[in-house]
Amino acid sequence: MLNKKLKQLEIPGVVEIKEMEAGYPVISINNSFANAEIALHGAHVMRFQPTGEKPVIWLSKTAVYSEGKAIRGGIPICWPWFGDKSVNDNKSNKTQVLPAHGFARSMFWELVSVQDNIETGTEIVFALKENEKTLSLWPYYFCLQLRVLVSKNLSVELSVKNTDETSFSFTGALHTYLSLGDIEASKIYGLNGVPYINKLNDQLKTQLDDIVISSELDNVYQPTVADITVYDKSQSRELLIQKQGSQSTVVWNPWEEKSSRMKDFDPGGFRNMVCIEAANTSGDVIFLQPQETHILSTNIVIKNK
Ligand code: BG6
Repeated sequence: MLNKKLKQLEIPGVVEIKEMEAGYPVISINNSFANAEIALHGAHVMRFQPTGEKPVIWLSKTAVYSEGKAIRGGIPICWPWFGDKSVNDNKSNKTQVLPAHGFARSMFWELVSVQDNIETGTEIVFALKENEKTLSLWPYYFCLQLRVLVSKNLSVELSVKNTDETSFSFTGALHTYLSLGDIEASKIYGLNGVPYINKLNDQLKTQLDDIVISSELDNVYQPTVADITVYDKSQSRELLIQKQGSQSTVVWNPWEEKSSRMKDFDPGGFRNMVCIEAANTSGDVIFLQPQETHILSTNIVIKNK
């Protein structure tokens, strides 16, 4: 059963809060611009579909909805680290492997506010603060806020405030899964001339052309503040991915073999997605003094061709 506080934030005809599974609330937005769904778990945008358009965000048909497990697809919030991480436990002298991409994507957030404006769209704000679990994984006090604006475009803004008495550093990403008609007929523009690390073989290279994906790809581009355009030929549209507060962009598609090893990645799904991630990776670590705030944001604009 949904609690009263959540129900009170509903806006009749525009914002409804349902349970996807018991204890797993999802906010459903249906305004004149678009439909969207956002889970409280991970403050995770799951769907975004402007009126009259095909879905913009890819969501795996076999995604798992349970606490502690990130949803496959949508916009996972990777924080306070991007990628894999392990630490040495001094007491036992053993290596402890921490959750990949941090803990923000696999915890329930608080729903702070829901506002609808007929001219600008629906804005939903979530928050996550330190708790016993986060302190056991990362020993700092912090306040995260995620602002999602569902309008003609989709805007997602993550603000990170250091509420500790000491400075801290972090990495992270807005790990956006875009929905495509056909990955092999799509092209990614905006990274020409940018150095990147190919995570599949750890080689450092420079992007020399527009990107066409026809096999597994896992590249971290840095430094770049550029907007990215994904031309989705088979759906006759372009998706423009703008970003702020980020000097790294990650492009990822696991392709057939790797995706087939992930139970929550639906078979063949790799043909209809690409991740374009506004990131702060290891070459772009953010340092915050007490009371300082960093904002990482992305905006997705749809252009029919
Ligand atoms: C990308 C990484 O950002 O996320 C990949 O560059 C990783 O290396 C991918 O495989 C998915 O990660 P996860 O933890 O959601 O399976």
